Amino acid sequence: MIVIYMNKIKASAPGKVILAGEHFVVENQPAIASAINLRTSVYISTRIKKGIEIYSKNYDLHRLYKIENGSFHDKLIEDKLYPIYFLVKYLLNTYNIEVRGGLIITIDSDIPPGSGLGSSAAVSVATVAALSKFFNLNLSLEDISKIAYKAEEIIHGKPSGIDNTISTFGGVILYKKTEGFIRINSKLSDMALILADSGIPRFTKDMVLKVQKLRKKYPEIFDPIYYAAGKLVRNMVDAIKSEDLIRLGELMNINHGLLSTIGVSNMFLEKIVYTSRKLGALGAKITGAGGGGLVLAISRKERAIHIYNGLKEICKKVILTEVSEKGVL
Ligand code: PMV
Repeated sequence: MIVIYMNKIKASAPGKVILAGEHFVVENQPAIASAINLRTSVYISTRIKKGIEIYSKNYDLHRLYKIENGSFHDKLIEDKLYPIYFLVKYLLNTYNIEVRGGLIITIDSDIPPGSGLGSSAAVSVATVAALSKFFNLNLSLEDISKIAYKAEEIIHGKPSGIDNTISTFGGVILYKKTEGFIRINSKLSDMALILADSGIPRFTKDMVLKVQKLRKKYPEIFDPIYYAAGKLVRNMVDAIKSEDLIRLGELMNINHGLLSTIGVSNMFLEKIVYTSRKLGALGAKITGAGGGGLVLAISRKERAIHIYNGLKEICKKVILTEVSEKGVL
């Protein structure tokens, strides 16, 4: 049984959805991501005995990592909680912090893990922010995002960095690997996000490799697709700025077509996409790596429950959410 300590310092960070540009972003095309109002909270409290104790409510996991002579054991790289321990270790070493006794870190998240909603980035961002508060490090948002990225590298290899960025800053962002991000100032307050889970496991690393392999084989075909994806994203920025949900939906549909073209869709994902549109979604597409995972549909808020109920008939898990302006807190 997991014991949760809700005392002392807390930080929380949101999950995300990719509205457009996944996969193409890996090759330095722009992408658009939005924070959603599902959050991860990380609590830090002190421990009388030495060691870093980490609890994850979602994974139902509990670990005690030892500290000996000020140094740490690095034996548990396979462990799901290792990236959190890594972040603690990184901050203690970088800022020369000595902990008397130990720390208890408790993770409690609304974001389903492993579904492409950026749960790992939200945990990392919230952990760094909570430690910053706990040790009065005064880390800037840029620092928090950069440090959280180090844990993302342990989990995902070489991710684009979009997840830790959106989880830190919140809102809706335009992101480019080599240029960083800019915030798109728009509330999209009448837009509902409906996320339907295919129930098919997705593996980001494998899907990215699959796309890259196909791209290498057919460069003269893929180049214009990547170019079109970049244009689509720029176009979507205008749609978002003017809160034009009809245009936003159409662009999402085109983006889905491009994702199918590069090989990350499958029969059931197509079924969810087309069912969403039939139910009245303004746009529907794979979000994230594809191959499984989630389909994102958008609609005006008044229509959302109808789409939600319809999708429930074919998917076990459907989430109704919206854009969150709040990043890490
Ligand atoms: O892991 P997901 O499902 O959120 O997808 C990540 C998006 C990719 O563009 C496929 C990879 C990346 O690092 O940006």
